[in-house]
Amino acid sequence: MVMNLSRSKRKWDHIRLALETGQLRTAGLDDVSFVHQSLPGTSLDSINLHTEIGELSLSSPIFINAMTGGGGDRTLDINRKLAIAARETGVGIAVGSQMSALKDASERQTYEIVRKEYPEGIIFANLGSEASVEQAKQAVDMIGADALQLHLNVVQELTMPEGDRDFTGVLARIEEIAGKIDVPLIVKETGFGMGAETVEKLLDAGAMAIDVGGFGGTNFASIENNRRKTRLDFFEGWGIPTAVSIAEARNITQTQPIIASGGIQNSLDVAKAIALGANAAGLAGQFLRILLESGVDELVKEINQLHEEIAYIMTALGAKTIADLQTAPLVISGPTWHWLNERGID
Ligand code: FNR
Repeated sequence: MVMNLSRSKRKWDHIRLALETGQLRTAGLDDVSFVHQSLPGTSLDSINLHTEIGELSLSSPIFINAMTGGGGDRTLDINRKLAIAARETGVGIAVGSQMSALKDASERQTYEIVRKEYPEGIIFANLGSEASVEQAKQAVDMIGADALQLHLNVVQELTMPEGDRDFTGVLARIEEIAGKIDVPLIVKETGFGMGAETVEKLLDAGAMAIDVGGFGGTNFASIENNRRKTRLDFFEGWGIPTAVSIAEARNITQTQPIIASGGIQNSLDVAKAIALGANAAGLAGQFLRILLESGVDELVKEINQLHEEIAYIMTALGAKTIADLQTAPLVISGPTWHWLNERGID
């Protein structure tokens, strides 16, 4: 019971502090510019937003990324509303880490509500990389998930007062899970990004897709520092920005799905992330803020507006499909250019 209370307090602290600390604007996407096309040869009504993440077929490149679950009535209400927004707009949705429900069955309903509200949806299960194969299977079964996200969050754990301090054996566990679950495995970061070295190891271990979870949006070092007595301030600027992470990942694989997330806030961010090579883009903090400050109807409006705006951007660029947008001409400047140049990535 004590465990239960402290876990649900932590979940609520994360939600509250995510809103209080807000989103950085340092994902590097402002360093990316499209090359304007005066002769795009497209019409708005011919634009198709359909995308694929491996075998998963999605009508939109946007999805609601993992946030919450467990923690009682308040998180159940948030998840219900996120699921309704996903259903009303036809986007995919990931639930937050399900470990709490694997340890305490009374917490299952805060995740199950997502499938209940959105029976036909593309829904991702979510666990940390400490999960066993059995736990991974249970998390998928709990919500009839279409894929499993396993999250990596070393810097968050290190900054979290009660967090993990041992990160050994993670890759071996990922490899085992990838080989033994019946749905595709997506490995994601949680706002610290991924470099080519990490992406290569994860793909070799059997991950179907990589969600780069880049630096520059929600900052879990900052969130956890607000829960500590002595702050680890140096972790607040730690991480690989989203724009760089996408390019690093795409440099390792031309074919496997790359998902952009971390600090994606608007339609232009989504379009730029796709043009850097992503197949889809996940938004977490931005959608949470809209939901909690303005309600589910506003979140539905926001997602519909994002779809409309992405179609306008694609029309202007002459990109009829998401695959076309992935190859739209770009110019990269500033620190993002510098990073990619240093790393020999074009
Ligand atoms: C998260 N995130 C997250 N990720 C994950 O894989 N499992 C989880 O349980 C959670 N929990 C969670 C709670 C809250 C309140 C927030 C805001 C976020 C991380 C999230 O999926 C994403 O990787 C980061 O937030 C970066 O994306 P944004 O927020 O900048 O769009």
